[in-house]
This record gives sequence, structure tokens and C-alpha cells, in this order.
Amino acid sequence: MDNKGSIGIFDSGYGGLTILKEILKELPEYNYIYLGDNARAPYGSRDFETVYKFTLECVNYLFKKNCPLIILACNTASAKALRTIQQKYLPNLHPPRKVLGIIRPTTEVIGNYSRTKHIGIFATEGTVQSESYLIEIKKFFCELVVTQEACPMWVPLVENNEHLSDGADYFVKKHIQNLLKKDPHIDAILLACTHYPLMLSKIKKYIPKNIQIISQGSIVAKSLKNYLIQHPEIESQISKNKKSVFYTSMDSASFNEKAGLFFGEKLTATRAEGI
Ligand code: DGL
Repeated sequence: MDNKGSIGIFDSGYGGLTILKEILKELPEYNYIYLGDNARAPYGSRDFETVYKFTLECVNYLFKKNCPLIILACNTASAKALRTIQQKYLPNLHPPRKVLGIIRPTTEVIGNYSRTKHIGIFATEGTVQSESYLIEIKKFFCELVVTQEACPMWVPLVENNEHLSDGADYFVKKHIQNLLKKDPHIDAILLACTHYPLMLSKIKKYIPKNIQIISQGSIVAKSLKNYLIQHPEIESQISKNKKSVFYTSMDSASFNEKAGLFFGEKLTATRAEGI
């Protein structure tokens, strides 16, 4: 046993499991603590103050569980809460802690996926309204034409395990048609919500074959790997016992029942007290 901590992975619900799954492939040696705020998901249609308040509560929960580094594996939280946490909250903490998002690493590479230089983005209303992707992409690929489409029903479909049902087809088809009508030159679409990779088979059904679909999991995993190489002062604080622990703000039995489907293997979570 050492006194070292774990890498915290946070999402509003199950979606962050799609990121953790890819991180575990890239960096299996570390300890991880996952927290899903399922009881209050979805975050996508909530205002800035609420997303900030909920995210900060969850971040503090993970800090108390000894996570020196937390990844907000949620685009909505990354778009609406990360900057304030990094600029106003973290500087006052002792010992120092780090919180990273998943928008920046995605925007650093997204231009490499398109030949036409026309990219589409599916995201929650909150992420779309924040314009975080538009702002960040401009810094790295100013020539890219980026078109967003908010898909407010997709997260509720996933959280309720209805994402592969016949009813989901209507909402998938509708948003794909909307996006491609706005820009027919799109040849790559980013799933800018960590819940959406779970709908991949449905999305593929309605997307023309020449369009590439980009999920964030492996992008975020590679970026985290680089971060840990560049920040030995953080890396040295993380245990390497290959242990992952799961917490949820909802009843854990319900979480366990569904989470395994999304994570790809059975897992057992504990109810996060106080959230
Ligand atoms: N997985 C979250 C994201 O990436 C979903 C947000 C929500 O709860 O609406 O944005």
C-alpha cells in the first residue's frame, strides 16, 4: 500500500465510461476513480451556474478521495465549468490539484480528420451554446468550417438505455439530416458528447459512408498519456495498482445494471454519499 492517489474521471452519468475504457487501454497501469452524477443527469440543458455547482461538488468529492488529477470526461462540464474551476477555484488549493477537460485535446487534432475541411459536431445544447468548440478549433485549425447540431434527446435515450431501441431512430435520423442540410460538404463528424459513442451503430445506419465519425475516447487517452509524461510531479502522485473504483450519485444497483453494458464489462459501483 502507498499513499498515492488515483486519476479521477468524472461525467454527468454513464458517458465518461466510454472515455475511461479507452484510457484503460492506453494507460492500464494506473488507479482510477470514476464518478457519474447520474442522479442529476443530463447536464446538457442546464444553465452555467448549475453545471458549475454540480461539477464542482463532484470535483471536490474526487479530491477527497485522493485524486490529484481529475479529467472532466464530459463535454458539457468541460464547456461550462472547467475554465472557472481552473481559474478561480484551483489556484487557492493546497496541495495543488489539476482538473483537465476533453475539449482542448480534441480540438488540437480534429482538423486532421477532414479532407474537405468541413467538420460537423453533434453535442448537447449546453456544449453547442457555449461555442467552446468553435472558439478552440479556431486556435488550431482556422481554415476549418465547423457546423454544430444540438441533440437534446440523445443523452436521455442513453441514460434510459433506450438508445438502441426503434424509437431512437427518429431522433438520430433527424439530427443527421439537420446537420448535413446545414453543410453538405462535411466529411467528418465529431461526437462531442461522451454519451454518443454508445449510439454509434444507430448513427452509422443513417450517415453516408464517406463521412468519418470521430469519438473522443482514444484522442483523450493519448493526450492524457502525453500529459503524464510532461508532468512527472503529478504522475508521481498516482498509484500504479491497476485498480478502478466506481461511484455514482444514484442508487448503485441501478447503475451497476446498466453501466456494464456501456463499459464493456461488468462493474460494481458504490453510492457516492453527499452528492
Ligand atoms: N457526457 C456528457 C457530455 O459529454 C453528457 C452531458 C449531459 O449530461 O447532458 O456532454
